[in-house]
Amino acid sequence: MRLEPVTGGIGADVLETDFSVPFGDRSAEQLRRALDQYLVLFVRDQNIDRMRQKQITAIFGPLSRLPYVEPLDDDPDVVAVLKEADEVKVGVFGGDWHSDFSFLECPPGGSVLHAVEVPPVGGDTLWANQILAYEALPEDLKTFVNPRRAVHLGAPYGVNYAPPEKTRSGRSIRMTRGDPTADIERLHPVVRTHPRSARKALFLNPIYTTRFEDMSVEDSAPILARLYAHMTRPELCCRHRWRVGDLVVWDNRTTLHFAVNDYDGFRRLLYRTTFAGESPV
Ligand code: OGA
Ligand code: MN
Repeated sequence: MRLEPVTGGIGADVLETDFSVPFGDRSAEQLRRALDQYLVLFVRDQNIDRMRQKQITAIFGPLSRLPYVEPLDDDPDVVAVLKEADEVKVGVFGGDWHSDFSFLECPPGGSVLHAVEVPPVGGDTLWANQILAYEALPEDLKTFVNPRRAVHLGAPYGVNYAPPEKTRSGRSIRMTRGDPTADIERLHPVVRTHPRSARKALFLNPIYTTRFEDMSVEDSAPILARLYAHMTRPELCCRHRWRVGDLVVWDNRTTLHFAVNDYDGFRRLLYRTTFAGESPV
């Protein structure tokens, strides 16, 4: 297996590895280590079916299902991340900086996307390295975040904070709303330690984090704004231009990601699988 970094800060291409056949223990561990190190892995030209995608996903953690997002009719483990060509001027799934479902007690450990259909241009995805973000924090912010907890709220999926209809994603991704448990504030540490690599990462979510523990939303807002600007600086990021057959794995504990919604008029379809994570510590 050859790993070629795609930027100075995050992401690597995985080369000279056949993903179409089962991995032995040694190469599976090599792959997990590669994800620990680079946080996002890119594999080109993968002609794999959904069963194989699920097997690959399970290398990184137990296969798990997403709440609130409707999976494929014939496979509850797979979500179609889809925007049709005629879905224009609508939001897109993941169209702001976020990590996935951080308002859960145990947010996903990571996810895998496999590109089936992509626009001729546009529809890129960005990731940002939150280990580097933590390490590069100015001293005053480092002191502020450590040790502190923040509130994560599943606002879009709850009752009280569900967004207005017009800001919702297009019809091709069906999301359940109106779950009162998504309105419950969940506390997570602002700095979390990765269970495998023991590296520390900032764990704040521009979509779901509302405030710091024992602080109001108003008092938290300017500090969060400063942190978010820092956490998404270009030198912490990589940007992936999708091709059909691309298989991408990311660590959801130590990265943020962003789906760029700039391809109205074109169809984009990726199959998505998820592996489980733990309660952040
Ligand atoms: C996701 C997500 C990004 C994309 O699947 O969680 O945010 O580019 N997708 O589709
Ligand atoms: Mn996402």
